[in-house]
Amino acid sequence: MTHSLSLITFLSLLFLFSSITATTTIGVTYISSPTLPPPEKVVAVLQSLKITSVRLPVADPNIIRAFSYTNISLFLVIPNSLIPSISGNRSAASHWIYSHVVPFYPRAHITAISVGNNVLAQGDVTSADLLVLAIRNVRRSLVDIGILKITVSTTFSFVNIMTTSFPPSSAEFQEPAGNFVIKPLLQLLTETNSSFFVSLYPYSVYKLRPEIPIGFALFQELPYNFREDTVTGVRYRNLFDLMVDAVIAAMAVAGHENIPVVVAETGWPCFDPSSEAEARGIYAEMYLQGLINHLRSGKGTPLRKEGVAEAYIYELFDANETATRNQGLRSGGTGQNWGFLFPNMSMKFEIDFSNGGSIPPAAVFGMVFWFLLLVIWLFILLDIGTSF
Ligand SMILES: *[C@@H]1O[C@H](CO)[C@@H](O)[C@H](O)[C@H]1NC(C)=O
Ligand SMILES: *[C@@H]1O[C@H](CO)[C@@H](O)[C@H](O)[C@H]1NC(C)=O
Ligand SMILES: *[C@@H]1O[C@H](CO)[C@@H](O)[C@H](O)[C@H]1NC(C)=O
Ligand SMILES: *[C@@H]1O[C@H](CO)[C@@H](O)[C@H](O)[C@H]1NC(C)=O
Ligand SMILES: *[C@@H]1O[C@H](CO)[C@@H](O)[C@H](O)[C@H]1NC(C)=O
Repeated sequence: MTHSLSLITFLSLLFLFSSITATTTIGVTYISSPTLPPPEKVVAVLQSLKITSVRLPVADPNIIRAFSYTNISLFLVIPNSLIPSISGNRSAASHWIYSHVVPFYPRAHITAISVGNNVLAQGDVTSADLLVLAIRNVRRSLVDIGILKITVSTTFSFVNIMTTSFPPSSAEFQEPAGNFVIKPLLQLLTETNSSFFVSLYPYSVYKLRPEIPIGFALFQELPYNFREDTVTGVRYRNLFDLMVDAVIAAMAVAGHENIPVVVAETGWPCFDPSSEAEARGIYAEMYLQGLINHLRSGKGTPLRKEGVAEAYIYELFDANETATRNQGLRSGGTGQNWGFLFPNMSMKFEIDFSNGGSIPPAAVFGMVFWFLLLVIWLFILLDIGTSF
């Protein structure tokens, strides 16, 4: 009897472990504007949508303050224009920290700071060493005042740093950026236990590669909708995983395969003046809900079973396209109107961030599997019991 009890305990423990799957934090990018509702109202809507993480490309102190005493974590961005001064001057880094973090932390749950956004956009690596220096200075300023839990990194855009994404296992970082910027950065991230931030738009890759079927970019799981990595034999069922694994493979080539990956931006536009065909609400809805369901399923990617650590949807409201482009607030992706809320805060289309509370198929499979195993073991036990 004691045996069977301990066996049941053991199996229940196994069952518990089997139902703990990857948990990717899903957040959104929020750019405020005078024509939008005030941040306090936006916070309330985010809470009602059960969104627990927000990325602020424009880290306005008044907006950071609005997130105090909420459970919403914040990803802040330091503008590219400050990188030269912050890299050369520790007090410039402290100045930024004292105006954007110290007054609010930890009441506002700041978890990440990106020093610059898409700094390699023009392929210019001449000032790239400044980037790693700037990240070091921001981090030291935080450590000096005893803040150790904020991850400090920078954000690259997938299309600007990767050579090829297919097959993903052969992906490498573009040179000269790979050796001059990314390798020293990866070394720093390893030393400081920080994450790699990348903006990643399947929409852009789909637009560049006409042979990619749209369903593959939109998480449509059809029987023949896959691409095989001919080197590893792994099957990819969506473009997002393929792009994430290309980044992971390139990190491995550079000698750092275990750094957590944070997708700083991803989304699908509702309007594209150059070709309206795929930039439509119906596809944006399919992409975003497909992404959320995929991340919530806990399946991870073929190369990393825990998947990406965080992913931020681009974006909450349509931003002013001119301003976004001029200030480099979006890393990549052509097209316009990326928001999923109207300015009156109603949804353009229905997306459910909680995934409707439904149990993902993998978990159901896990439950059935362990239940059957339990039954078989009980039979064996009973059998042994009667034979003695
Ligand atoms: C924040 O989370 C904690 C623990 O999960 C909970 O007790 C608290 O009510 C939450 N606060 C808000 C404002 O949601
Ligand atoms: C360093 O930054 C501080 C604060 O931004 C500024 O007052 C000071 O002049 C800067 N020093 C140098 C040498 O650039
Ligand atoms: C690294 O970061 C992770 C997640 O932020 C944390 O759980 C872990 O304890 C950290 N490890 C070290 C050595 O600081
Ligand atoms: C967008 O921003 C530009 C430049 O900042 C401005 O001239 C324009 O009026 C703005 N458009 C809207 C619709 O707010
Ligand atoms: C919000 O704005 C959109 C677009 O302007 C409109 O279609 C919708 O009816 C509005 N919703 C509410 C509740 O006012």
